[in-house]
Amino acid sequence: MSANRDFIRRDLAVVWHPCTQMKDHEQMPPIPIRHGEGVYLEDFDGNRYIDAVSSWWVNLFGHGNPRIRAAIQQQAEKLEHVILAGFTHEAVVDLSERLVALTPAGLDKCFYADNGSSAVEVALKMSFHYWRNRGQAARRRFVNLANSYHGETLGALAVGDVGLYKQTYADLLLEPITVPSPDCFHREPGESWRDYSERMVAPMEETLARHADEVCAVILEPLVQAAGGMRMYHPVYLSRVRELCDRYQVHLIADEICTGFGRTG
Ligand SMILES: Cc1ncc(COP(=O)(O)O)c(C=O)c1O
Repeated sequence: MSANRDFIRRDLAVVWHPCTQMKDHEQMPPIPIRHGEGVYLEDFDGNRYIDAVSSWWVNLFGHGNPRIRAAIQQQAEKLEHVILAGFTHEAVVDLSERLVALTPAGLDKCFYADNGSSAVEVALKMSFHYWRNRGQAARRRFVNLANSYHGETLGALAVGDVGLYKQTYADLLLEPITVPSPDCFHREPGESWRDYSERMVAPMEETLARHADEVCAVILEPLVQAAGGMRMYHPVYLSRVRELCDRYQVHLIADEICTGFGRTG
């Protein structure tokens, strides 16, 4: 038996893979990876693959990046972990200072979550909590875009709009107010990206005009609806929605889990 096949057999006996119908693996088994370097992944039989999905879009600097590996090793030798409630440490303050230097004025504090879905949950809760503290507890809804994706935990799933992921759990979920997407895939023949995305501001404005009193925040994926099929829109939409959120006094949550840190150029 090849090393690959032997490893796949061990995997299928004990692992459930995420976002996967496990029955599919009976026909098309997972690719067992032993090693990664730069853009390459290598399986247990020594075959090499280009990691064209960047490990689900998140690997910006290549596998086994020597600088990142050295930094992880150095930190692990000093302090591998301490709780952040009631304690603090060098790494978190250094990172926060550098993030705050990058972000626009007003975004001056960092809160850490351990994955994209949790970050979305935190943003939803912060927004809800803010309005509650301001005596506006009637605000408990979120506005989202059609075909958006914000993660798999229940709050994040609720503000997404990809049926494949959320239909089964519909009875457990908050109900967002969903407005049409500015996704330029749907523009009319001959219509420019800018014109289409600008035209799609109107339904957002109508929604906020009608519902602002009960809305905590608008949540969207800036520029690219990734899990919805890599659907893109023009940046003018973001500027207009920013203006609308200011005018109607609701928060704007920019879910940059996929697009952050320079991934869109
Ligand atoms: C825009 C967006 N938000 C949230 C998530 C969820 O992130 P995670 O899988 O780390 O929970 C994803 C994942 O692809 C995403 O693309």
